[in-house]
Order: sequence, then structure tokens, then C-alpha cells
Amino acid sequence: LAIWYQWTTRTELPELSKVSVLMRQRNKVENTLRAMQHAGPGTLQVISDFDMTLSRFAHHGKRVPTTHNILDHRLLIDEGCACNMRKLLQIYYPIEIDPSLTSEQKIPLMVEWWTKVHHLLIQQKIQRDMLAQAVQESGVILREGYEVFFDRLAELQVPLLIFSAGVGDILEEVVRQSQVFHPNVHVISNYMDFDANGVLRGFKGPLIHTFNKREGALLLAAPLPELRERPNVLLLGDSLGDLAMADGVARPRNLLTVGFLNDQVEERTESYVEAFDIVLVNDETMEVPNAVLKFIT
Ligand code: TMP
Ligand code: MG
Repeated sequence: LAIWYQWTTRTELPELSKVSVLMRQRNKVENTLRAMQHAGPGTLQVISDFDMTLSRFAHHGKRVPTTHNILDHRLLIDEGCACNMRKLLQIYYPIEIDPSLTSEQKIPLMVEWWTKVHHLLIQQKIQRDMLAQAVQESGVILREGYEVFFDRLAELQVPLLIFSAGVGDILEEVVRQSQVFHPNVHVISNYMDFDANGVLRGFKGPLIHTFNKREGALLLAAPLPELRERPNVLLLGDSLGDLAMADGVARPRNLLTVGFLNDQVEERTESYVEAFDIVLVNDETMEVPNAVLKFIT
């Protein structure tokens, strides 16, 4: 049986044999894939992070902006605010990805980062009407093959939950402009709160940062009726914190986690291989998630 498993995955999933794909337990991955395939698309849900998971980390040698960084546009914020946001990024991003710190150590610092940035943004009186143009001119780009990924899930009516610590309004605009905001897409994120004149006055709901997605999953994802009764989960993320996105699934049966390792590769490979079932190293494409989807559906 083991030999047959290997043979079928090798021929049907050659994408998993690329050198950029790392797996701690190839057998476990294959068994999970088989079980998901057997159970069918009616039992599947996909939970994905957004920034640097569905969007690319870099393109043509340049970093691709996150949803927060898309706000760095003179239509929305002034040079002083942009400068302050960049300074905060330089301080806190290295902490976010530091493999020598635990999430418990990172959490208060992430709350500090997000709170400071949101406070800066609120002072800028950002106008809702300007967001679309800022997204258009931002250079944001989703991973190669994203159309196949989104379209296939829509076609199969498999819910796609995008769970992001970024800015929900920007995220939605990116997905809309990429022409893949299909009815099966659900978003949990930090949404802007605008006053009657369409001017930013705050953020709605509980703050979501990279390391409190468990709370978000229990509070916000678990109640979504579309996700109930779907015990098989394909999870995509680029941060170890993203693994908690599946914590709201009521009765999980098979969980397959895919981690994009974009940055600080050498320092983080071990922890990523330990934590995710499949690790994709410096891979700017959706090739592997698409191959997995094709296989299990
Ligand atoms: P994600 O949950 O969709 O990946 O979004 C969170 C990312 O946003 C996280 O990796 C850090 C990034 N970020 C910025 O780039 N700039 C900011 O100002 C903040 C607060 C977060
Ligand atoms: Mg991310």
C-alpha cells in the first residue's frame, strides 16, 4: 500500500517533488491527501492568510506591499505619517519574524505595532473613495496562478476564508480588482470604520494581529454557517501564527497546512518544517496549492 501511495502521488503530484518543497512527513501528507480526495469537495474548506500568502512577497526584485503598506499613498496619508509607519515597520517586522522569540513574547509587541499604526492612520482622515485608486497604483500582485486557485474553489463551491491581520477594506479591493471576489470568498480582517462623510474614524471589532488568529478563529470564523460541517481543511499561511486560523473548525478531520517561507529562510527552515506539513521555500506561485486542489477534488 505504501508503495502505491508513493507511486500515485509521484505521478499525479509531481509538484511535491520540486526542491523548493519541504515535508517533515511525506507519508502523512500523502495519507491526508488521499483521505481528502476520498471525502470529496463537499467536505472541504480552505483557510488562507492574505499578505505574503495570497499576495506575493516580492516581484521583479521588489517587495510587494502588504495591505497596510498600500495605504502609503499620498492620496491617503502625508509624508510624515508614511515615514512614521515605515519606522515602525523597521522596528517591529524583524520582531514578528524573529525565530528566537516565542509568540507569547511577540504578542504585546504586535499589539503595540498595530495600535500605533492604526492610530497614525486615523489621524490622517483617510477618505474611503480614494482606496480603490491607491490599490490600483500600489503594485500589489497576487501569486502566480491565483486565478486558477480562486476560480476552481468557486466552481466547486468550496468556501475560501481569507483570514488577515491586514486591512480588510484594502484586501477586498485587491481581490476585487484581481477579478476573483467570487461568492464563496469570506474575509475576516481589520475593517475600517468610516463616518457619514466617508472619512476614517477608527477600526471595527477586535484587533487582529499575526499572533492572535486563534481568538479570531473562535470568535469570528467558527460562527460562519458556510464553514460548519466541512471537517477537511486546507490551510495556507506565511507565518507560524497563521496555523491558529484553523482553531475555530468545529470537528476537524483532516488538516493539511502549507507554509510559504519567504524571508529569513535559513534561520526559519527548521521551525517551519516542524510546524507546517508542506513548506514552500521562496516560491512566488500557487503551483503547489493548485496541484493539491486538483488532486483532492
Ligand atoms: P496577514 O495576516 O494578511 O499576513 O497581514 C499581516 C501582515 O501585515 C504582517 O505580516 C505584518 C504586515 N504589516 C505591515 O506590513 N505593515 C504594518 O504597518 C502592519 C501593522 C503590519
Ligand atoms: Mg501573512
